[in-house]
Amino acid sequence: MVARLIAGLVVLLLGGGAFYLFMGSRETPENALLNPEDPQLVAMGRDLYASECAGCHGAGGEGQAGWENASQDNPLAPPHNGSGHTWEHPDGALFDLTKTGLSTVACRTLNSEAMPKFADTLDDGQIYAVLSYIKTLWPEHIRTQNVAINAIYADQDNPTAN
Ligand code: HEC
Repeated sequence: MVARLIAGLVVLLLGGGAFYLFMGSRETPENALLNPEDPQLVAMGRDLYASECAGCHGAGGEGQAGWENASQDNPLAPPHNGSGHTWEHPDGALFDLTKTGLSTVACRTLNSEAMPKFADTLDDGQIYAVLSYIKTLWPEHIRTQNVAINAIYADQDNPTAN
């Protein structure tokens, strides 16, 4: 009886926790690298996005037309506005992909002919800023899902550059 009660409580707690992660507030967790709620960071990121990224990823993050059907040998820039898959990456992976084109978390290397490596162009703070801005382009439900993804990868989210 007691065991059953405890089991029931555990299930309730786990269920509640999972529900909170997926449906809960999309407030930026303290351990997040990127902060779309920081107006100064976002303003800096907006300018950087316009000068460094918009040419390929689109002024509003819409990506290049036909990106979904492009080959990996000749990829087109995917959207950053929440309609692509940028949001599926945890913060550390987005940082690494922008800086070096390689993310150990995502196990994927970007095509370096098509997507510049920003290691020599932007410093780490600028990369955090531009990616924080990109997150402001995502609709509410995408932001919430991305917060959940970051929580899952929290212990691996270690940008190689730091
Ligand atoms: C010269 C064009 C170009 C510019 C400029 C550019 N990108 Fe890209 N980006 C690409 C292409 C093409 C890809 C897809 C590469 C691939 O799939 O191998 C890509 C992919 C990415 C990805 C991976 C997305 C995913 O879901 O896998 C991120 C993150 C990214 N870019 C961020 C940025 C940021 C941030 C900037 C500006 C600081 C930027 N890019 C500037 C062309 C560009």
